[in-house]
Amino acid sequence: MPDLRVCARRLTARQVVSGRLPGMTYNKAKLYKECLMIVYDEQNQTFTLHTCNTTYQMKVDHYQVLVHTYYGPYVGDNSLSHCLRCADRDFSPNPNEAGNDRTYSLDIIPQEYSTCGVGDFRLPSVEPELPDGSHTLDLRYLGYTLQKGKYTLPDLPAFYSAEEEAETLTLYLEDASAQIETALYFGVFEKSDLITRAVRIINRGKETVRLHRCASLCLDFLRADMDLITFNAHHLMERCPDRAPLRSGIQSVGSVRGISSHQHNPFVILCDQNADEYHGLCYGAMLLYSGNFEAAVECSPFESSRLVMGIHPYHFCWSLRPGESFTTPEAALVCSPDGFTQMSQQFHRAIRDHLLRDPYSHRRKPVLINNWEATYFDFTAEKLVDIANEASALGIELFVMDDGWFGVRDDDSSGLGDWQVNKTKLPDGLEGLVSRINSLGMSFGIWVEPEMVNENSALYREHPDWILHVPGRAPARGRGQFVLDFSRKDVRDHIYGQLKTIFSSAPVTYVKWDMNRSLTDVWSDALPPQRQGEVYHRYVLGVYDILERLRTDYPHMLIEGCCGGGGRFDGGMLYYTPQIWCSDDSDAIDRLKIQYGTSFCYPPCTMGAHVSAVPNEQNGRITPLETRGIVAMSGAFGYEMDPGKCSPEEKEIIRRQVAWYQTHYELICRGDYYRLGDPFANNLFTAWEHVSEDKRQAVVSLVTGSVRPSPPYSRLCLKGLDPSLQYRINGSETLYSGGALMQAGYPLPAFSGDYQAIQLYLEAQS
Ligand code: DGJ
Repeated sequence: MPDLRVCARRLTARQVVSGRLPGMTYNKAKLYKECLMIVYDEQNQTFTLHTCNTTYQMKVDHYQVLVHTYYGPYVGDNSLSHCLRCADRDFSPNPNEAGNDRTYSLDIIPQEYSTCGVGDFRLPSVEPELPDGSHTLDLRYLGYTLQKGKYTLPDLPAFYSAEEEAETLTLYLEDASAQIETALYFGVFEKSDLITRAVRIINRGKETVRLHRCASLCLDFLRADMDLITFNAHHLMERCPDRAPLRSGIQSVGSVRGISSHQHNPFVILCDQNADEYHGLCYGAMLLYSGNFEAAVECSPFESSRLVMGIHPYHFCWSLRPGESFTTPEAALVCSPDGFTQMSQQFHRAIRDHLLRDPYSHRRKPVLINNWEATYFDFTAEKLVDIANEASALGIELFVMDDGWFGVRDDDSSGLGDWQVNKTKLPDGLEGLVSRINSLGMSFGIWVEPEMVNENSALYREHPDWILHVPGRAPARGRGQFVLDFSRKDVRDHIYGQLKTIFSSAPVTYVKWDMNRSLTDVWSDALPPQRQGEVYHRYVLGVYDILERLRTDYPHMLIEGCCGGGGRFDGGMLYYTPQIWCSDDSDAIDRLKIQYGTSFCYPPCTMGAHVSAVPNEQNGRITPLETRGIVAMSGAFGYEMDPGKCSPEEKEIIRRQVAWYQTHYELICRGDYYRLGDPFANNLFTAWEHVSEDKRQAVVSLVTGSVRPSPPYSRLCLKGLDPSLQYRINGSETLYSGGALMQAGYPLPAFSGDYQAIQLYLEAQS
């Protein structure tokens, strides 16, 4: 990564610069130049956003249309509008004020935030239904503000920064006739090459406006020769990369399940068709949102393409009364001129430093053991203490009690909603159990699924109207449960009250927040028919609200997100739950694929990963314990098994794994991550690497597939080392130069048997 450009000109703290907005002080150009990350060129009417390696530029044109001129590798402040082309294209209309100039059309010009009904027929970013019944919006530039630090969003997850780490540009657009104002927010994080986007729509009129679509991000490209990579699949196999060239028309992924989903992730990549890990231009776009989303790319016939990302328009309709505004979730962009690795590392850095609010951010997280796969619902306090006892002797530090401890809950058909301790299983209550666990030197964590209720529960019997349901229609079940209407504050308050009682009854340091079905029958008793299009989004806001309360009331508690594993693995949840159970598939070999796909956007420290027993519960595969450990150690590490069933040799392996992870935690969780192999390719092995920021330490992990006869002699070329340093590997006598390890590679041993693994620890010699 190139060195940071020296920053000689900066905005002073709290300085706000603005221009041309009615009622705002207009400051002269001199002040704008104080800012390095954002440069306003008054003469050319351009706004240029700079990060270390990238430049993003917009221009206000002669019709006050906000035109997107460039996003790509760093190019300086000069106006890039010479790249724009105007041409007379039949059937591409011209705005009224263009008169007879047929070469000016919104259908051709790259837009910063595309509109609808006025001549741009490509994907719209926003679609209002105005009081007169029209769906037309023509946004023109009004003014800007520029300030130090990153904007915040009310009640929504967002990247955050200290004042000196980021800058904010807000561009105001308006449709004077519709009396709709729009604020486009841009957050610029120089070091991590991150640009964030969000939009606020304000109804300045005197009647209600209904928003049918309101995207977070619109990004136009003057090219269509790119590949689109999306991350897809299903429960037990999430976030598998899928790459295809853009073609005519619209290609999209999204979710209408009320959760970001196992099927598609709100993260996509657009890249050069020959881009790979280390070459080619690529753009990553993530949406910090945990509900229905859509990421759509449209190729126009004129060699251009447009990415639009935001809340899915399905069943979305938000009423804006006079004076009200709607704020979109945040989207974030990273552009890498040099392939996927750099893009991923910049997302990882930005997520770790500016999104996660992790009570352990400056401390090591405890290695945990979770009882789910060891006991399922069938446990007693004695059984849990037995597991904890065995685990603590192996160095494991946190015991997490999973599903089954509350209400009447011996299987998944009853009990959800009744968050009181089941005294048959835990006769001394939570306090009694936790004090026994604590006396083993372990901290205690607990599983909850607050958004759900079973029909067979006291809560449902008392409040059947608290679920999402359409009047007169029997609601669909999912895992035998219904979804509580979290768009309603009274419902949330009741559930939160129960949770608080539990969490305050004993020293609980960790909560696993689960969610085990997709939303159906999305209708709320609390809203009139014409506002039912708000329920999906209000539900997500409700989840964020209750998670924020939890964070505020228990600032030292670590919250793990879970949605049947990785069904809500997104930037929105990560703001509240700094780690997420990556998948319900705990098989090490399947996890290679899941963790690989996840790593394109999300850092290893966010991926909950456990060693489980063999044969694996999900697919019956048998893998060596060493291999399971090496795969799980590449994330937020833990165990999900009964260590009492392990042999003395296996216990010794576990003891070593725990100690190893504890020692190398910082490197794994904060180091730069390199994918050294693709587990989807039919290769002999998959490998990955974590390198410390100063390049003096690295850990390389490698897992083989099914054994093959006469395997070729293989070497593994490492990445990210300092070519001039000498490294010792696993304490060896021999020293290897960083340059040789990266160019000539490290010779791999001959492997015998399926699914073998090795781990190399490299330490530079001074
Ligand atoms: C789904 C989760 O992903 C599992 O880890 C476990 O917590 C079960 N739910 C419990 O019902």
